[in-house]
Amino acid sequence: MSKTQYLPSVDQKHRKGFQPLHSPERLLLGPGPSNAHPDVLKALSLPPIGHLDPFYVDLMSEVQQLLRYAWQTDNRLTLPMSGTGSAAMEATIANTVEPGDKVLVCINGYFGNRLADMAGRYQADVRLIEKQWGEAFSLEEIESSLIEHRPAVLAIVHAETSTGVCQPMEGIGDLCHKYDCLLLLDTVTSLGGVPLFIDSWKVDLAYSCSQKGLSCPPGLGPFTMSPRAETKLAERSGKVPNWYLDVSLLNKYWGSDRVYHHTAPVNMNFGMREALRLLAEEGLENAWNRHRTNAEKLWDGLQRIGLELLVPENLRLPTLTTVLIPEGIDGKSFCVHLLNNHGVEVGGGLGSLAGKVWRIGLMGYNSEPQNVERIINLFETELPGFRSSSEASA
Ligand SMILES: Cc1ncc(COP(=O)(O)O)c(C=O)c1O
Repeated sequence: MSKTQYLPSVDQKHRKGFQPLHSPERLLLGPGPSNAHPDVLKALSLPPIGHLDPFYVDLMSEVQQLLRYAWQTDNRLTLPMSGTGSAAMEATIANTVEPGDKVLVCINGYFGNRLADMAGRYQADVRLIEKQWGEAFSLEEIESSLIEHRPAVLAIVHAETSTGVCQPMEGIGDLCHKYDCLLLLDTVTSLGGVPLFIDSWKVDLAYSCSQKGLSCPPGLGPFTMSPRAETKLAERSGKVPNWYLDVSLLNKYWGSDRVYHHTAPVNMNFGMREALRLLAEEGLENAWNRHRTNAEKLWDGLQRIGLELLVPENLRLPTLTTVLIPEGIDGKSFCVHLLNNHGVEVGGGLGSLAGKVWRIGLMGYNSEPQNVERIINLFETELPGFRSSSEASA
């Protein structure tokens, strides 16, 4: 009698004979993820090693150093959170917001709303300053809200992926110092692609993601915290109410002690190290120029074929462009067509812009002239087939 005959019988209904995995070839020109750089993919596929292996511990320091370069910061507490951008977003709030703290959130798109939702879950006294989606905040608007609410934290999105607006940052950090509050910045769609200066802008808390300007797959959320924010963390009256994201615990692993906190996703950090190395090799100024040049090419090409852009040029993000869907066109069907028949992903609108815009991303590895030409060509040749018959005959 074989051993298995003593085991209870196994339910086989979920046991399917799937084929080995092959993912389809896609050009990801939506709001993210972007395609990963081939060298990053190679790094991801290296054999894993232990998360306390001396080789890995050295690699952690390299990732931190390269992240400081990418973010232009000297912050000691700079590390990639295990999790996506939203995990790092939550970490900024979980560590610094105590119940009853006023958190003033600037909302001009989808991700400002997410910040407000998260702050509320940590029992902040959430105050809002709102603008139309597609607009940016002026220094005057921010200052009068700071005077009115006197918050402990001001949260704002640098690169609003839902609208394609790049928030001008000069002067906001000075206002936060003047009114004694921390400045929290979402840099998910700006890191690696758009000029970004954490220290000289006096940003106290920032987060990002791996899957856009860094040319890495999703899975890590870069996080940084200034000495001012560290002081607020040290002076908390209670524990950080989120064990996994508690930076004081995480820093025992990422700081000099190197003691176990959680089993790090070592291969994701191999990929991140390679992505950041490639960015440093190119140089930030070159990467920012490349994104700007290719975005301008995209804007010119789209406008040449008669399409309109949502955001005025002075506020446009080089990494993400919002294109108004012309009257009479089913924007969603067009995206489905591009994906199914051409292997190209373009995003639709989120929230109040759903059905009104397409979102075209040129981020990291994908910000290249041949991708701009390809997407313009597709809009030029394929879009006419999507005009409704009444439009076409008008
Ligand atoms: C501006 C912004 N903030 C936050 C996030 C959340 O990041 P993730 O989806 O990686 O959790 C995104 C995602 O695209 C984003 O665009």
